[in-house]
This record gives sequence, structure tokens and C-alpha cells, in this order.
Amino acid sequence: MKSLVLRRPDDWHVHLRDGAALAAVLPFTAARFARAMVMPNLNPPVTTTRQALEYRERIRARLPAGAAFEPLMTLYLTDATPPEEITRAKAAGIVGCKLYPAGATTHSDAGVTDVRRIDATLARMAEVGMVLQVHGEVTDPQVDIFEREARFIEAVLAPLAARHLQLRIVFEHITTRAALDFVHGARAGIGATVTPQHLLMNRNALFAGGLQPHHYCLPVLKAEEHRAALLAAVAGGSPRLFLGTDSAPHARRAKEAACGCAGIFSAHAGIELYAEAFEAAGALDQLEAFAALNGAAFYGLPRNEATVTLTRDAWRVPERLPFGDEELVPLRAGESLAWRLAA
Ligand code: DOR
Ligand code: ZN
Repeated sequence: MKSLVLRRPDDWHVHLRDGAALAAVLPFTAARFARAMVMPNLNPPVTTTRQALEYRERIRARLPAGAAFEPLMTLYLTDATPPEEITRAKAAGIVGCKLYPAGATTHSDAGVTDVRRIDATLARMAEVGMVLQVHGEVTDPQVDIFEREARFIEAVLAPLAARHLQLRIVFEHITTRAALDFVHGARAGIGATVTPQHLLMNRNALFAGGLQPHHYCLPVLKAEEHRAALLAAVAGGSPRLFLGTDSAPHARRAKEAACGCAGIFSAHAGIELYAEAFEAAGALDQLEAFAALNGAAFYGLPRNEATVTLTRDAWRVPERLPFGDEELVPLRAGESLAWRLAA
């Protein structure tokens, strides 16, 4: 049986939720990843250092016994986040601040209405070395949903990066050729995360045989040419790109609804899915850098010393997983995955 030993990977973008949902999903992430960048879009959002540290304690309290996993915390930026909060957060070991354009996605209502309103806060972030993590889509309902990422680059991200030349920025969950071009042509200090769904599926997956709510996430899946470009970029070993699953659990009832929530749960196979994508591109030798080296280098954090082993030993993903009092439909539910995480 073919097997693959990798330095233990990190997930640079994950939604762990809170309470019973947190307890249900955390073991999947902790089993695979040494560290994860935990998104702050709880309800209410994690906007202060104190809230982030309390959230970190709730995560740690839910960790399975013996888990070697470190949650890395982020603050949710609002129009009113003061520069002083950034200084406090940095001193407390918080690694990044997430910019959600108000209304862009799940629990983003308290997000930033206009980035120029937070320029003083962004300047403080650059000064103290706090990373800005960006959900890169414009929110104007007049803009075609497939164009929102490309539009965001020219309208918001490029000017922001030029106004704050020392600010380190992660363009999260990129989905288009335009985003790749921006990241690869950008000044130093700009990187991007790529999800498994955007490497493995194109927008046809939203409508294959009928409406597929479990393939709906934001940014939405794009056309095949964009998927192919993303896969070629990670397979080519771009050091600016790194793993961020954007695993975003929602109860089955909330997904299979007249107005279904955005988010794909992938933590149950958070490294296995990438192995499948890299294998399809003939680039398994590039997986370790993408999953375990590039992100740590970008964030200036040490490399993980432990390893994980993947074996080419097909398994069937459960149809549903427990999710507190609800249930959760994982990506590839009921289907076979080629790679398995060895115990
Ligand atoms: O699909 C998504 N789900 N995109 C996001 O940006 C947020 C996430 C969530 O929290 O459910
Ligand atoms: Zn996300």
C-alpha cells in the first residue's frame, strides 16, 4: 500500500463554532493538524482580546485527552475596533485579525462597512506585526456573485495593500485566476489560503443532478478554468499559497432549507482531500510544503516537528455526523475517499 509521511500540517483557516458544535467538530481538526487559525465569526463575534482568550479556553477544554493541538486566535474587525485593541491582542498572543466586509458571508453583519474607516487600526496592525486575514468579496448586490472576488481586488485589496505597505495580508480562500495573479504579482508579505473544495470542484457541483446545498460555500465555487488554475498553482509549489480548509459546519437542517447557509464541512478529511487533489495533479511531492511549511513561514511560526502518515487505502465517508442535537453532512458524504489518515 502506498503511504505518505508528512510533517504534521496546519489549517490556516477553520470555523470551529462553539458549545456542542465545537465539541462535535474539534476532534477532526485536532487529529490532523498541529495548529489551526480559528475564525472569529461566532454569534456574537469575537471582537475583543478578552473574548478571544475566553474562546481559546473553551476550545482547549473541549480537546480530546492527549491531543497535541494549538488553537491560534483571531479578532473580528468592526468599524469600531480601536487601535488599542490591536496592541492588547498582540501582547496576548493573538495572531491575526479577520476582515469581513459587512454582509459578505455567515455572521458578517458586524463586519467592516468601508475599510478606510479602519485605516488607523490597520496601521497599528502593521506596526505591531499583526496579520490581516481578508474575506475578499465585494458585497454590492449589483455585482455578479462570480465576479465579487475579482472586483474586491481592484476596489479594496490592492489599494489597501498599497496604503499599508508593511501590513502582512492573507487573502483567504481564493477562488479565481484573478486572485492568483494578484497574489503572485503582489509585494512581499501577501499570501493566500486555498480550500479543498475549490481545488476539487467547480460550480457544476452546485447543480449536479439537482440543487446541492452541501456544495454551497462563500466564496461560491467557480468555473472549471479557475479550479484548474488554482490546482496548477498549488501543484507548482507556489510558496505564497497555503492550506486553509475553511471547514464551516452548519446543521443539516440549516443547509437543506429554503435559504440554505453557506459553508462546507471538510474537517473530517481535512488533509485527505488535499492529498487527492495533489495526487490528481501529479504533485504529491508538493503537498508537504503547502500543508506544513508555507503557512508557518508566512506567519513566522516554527515548523511542526511531528509527522502524520496517509495511506492509499480507500474509505467511505459517513452520510452524517453527530452535531450536538443536530446532524452534519460532511463533504463527500457516502462516497469513497482514496487517502486515509493512519492512526
Ligand atoms: O461558506 C462560508 N462559510 N464562507 C464563509 O466565509 C463563512 C463560513 C461560515 O462561517 O459558515
Ligand atoms: Zn471561512
